[in-house]
Amino acid sequence: MHARVIDYSLLALVLIEVISGLASFLVGKPEGSWLFMLHGVLGLAILVLLVWKVRRVFVRLWRPQHWDRATVVAALALVAVLATVLSGVIWTAFQWPLGYPNGLNWHVIFGLLLACAVLGHMALRFKPLHRRHFLGRRTALRYAGIIATGGLLWQGHAQISRVARLPGANRRFTGSREIGSRQGLAFPVTMWMLDNPQPLDVKEWRLHVAGAVAHPFELSVADLARGRIVTQDAILDCTGGWYTAQTWRGLSVGWLLQQARPLPGARAVSFVSVTGYRWSVPLTEAASLLLATHAGDEPLDHGHGAPLRLVAPGRRGFQWVKWVTEVRVLQQPDLGQWIAIFNSGL
Ligand code: HEM
Repeated sequence: MHARVIDYSLLALVLIEVISGLASFLVGKPEGSWLFMLHGVLGLAILVLLVWKVRRVFVRLWRPQHWDRATVVAALALVAVLATVLSGVIWTAFQWPLGYPNGLNWHVIFGLLLACAVLGHMALRFKPLHRRHFLGRRTALRYAGIIATGGLLWQGHAQISRVARLPGANRRFTGSREIGSRQGLAFPVTMWMLDNPQPLDVKEWRLHVAGAVAHPFELSVADLARGRIVTQDAILDCTGGWYTAQTWRGLSVGWLLQQARPLPGARAVSFVSVTGYRWSVPLTEAASLLLATHAGDEPLDHGHGAPLRLVAPGRRGFQWVKWVTEVRVLQQPDLGQWIAIFNSGL
């Protein structure tokens, strides 16, 4: 393949990988498992392109007299790509013990560094790509070969993990490992970004049901037991690389909405935490959710979101808002939540 086609293909694959990796954090239903497969196959296909690339630049990397400012960035990109692919493969095979940062956290850190290094490398060594560089049946066939090799490596990795009974063979389709299922609060406490509130004063705490509703109201902790209490089996799957299956018990959001009577035109429901963190779901979905007070028979503790945390089956853990103080009915989608999840807690 022409050198520039290899360079631009590496750039494209790295960007697709970063985007698919981050997008995978929004996938919690098995229908979306193809995204994880695509991410794995293309990530491993990068290794094939790397062999071509390193063969070409090896001499320059090896001889210090050829080095310049751009060589440092290029070497960084090479280290970062190897570290990203290796950490991805090691995490999916071994899922090394939890505790932060774990293998998946390192993988994401390396992946983001890689994106910066590759863009920096491109800026320093930019050369345009022309149609004549990549047109032709040969390039198409080689591309097919590269993706097929990525697929074979991915399959091989999955088979070895299964035959050798590596811990990763039991991972969920999201890559997460199981921890503390049906053992009450034995699953980890994770704090997102800057969220780390003081334990809430249950005497002062209120749940406000407000927004586009005919009958806004509030509930105290004592009032919760008077609402409709429901149970639901659901998997909490954290983007930090673990999941736990629990029977959750708590207040029906459908019941709250019935009491509040959403106005015509209401489209979504936002769940707001005491920290300012918030996430919204469509109104119809919200009606089927619950605000948990218990995991199994154990009451939630502060770290797990007491007095109320959202249980949103099929959505990733960062959407299961903790320390909920407000259920707000919306007539517009809440784009501001994308900022709130990064600056809440400040
Ligand atoms: C920075 C954002 C990224 C995120 C959030 C991310 C996320 C993930 C996740 C969740 C997995 C586990 C999937 C599973 O168990 O099947 C994974 C695996 C993997 N990732 Fe990434 N990733 C990122 C960047 C990258 C990049 C840039 C590359 C390639 C250079 C890459 C290559 C891989 C590979 C090779 C695997 C192992 C796949 C397998 O063998 O099954 N990732 N990544």
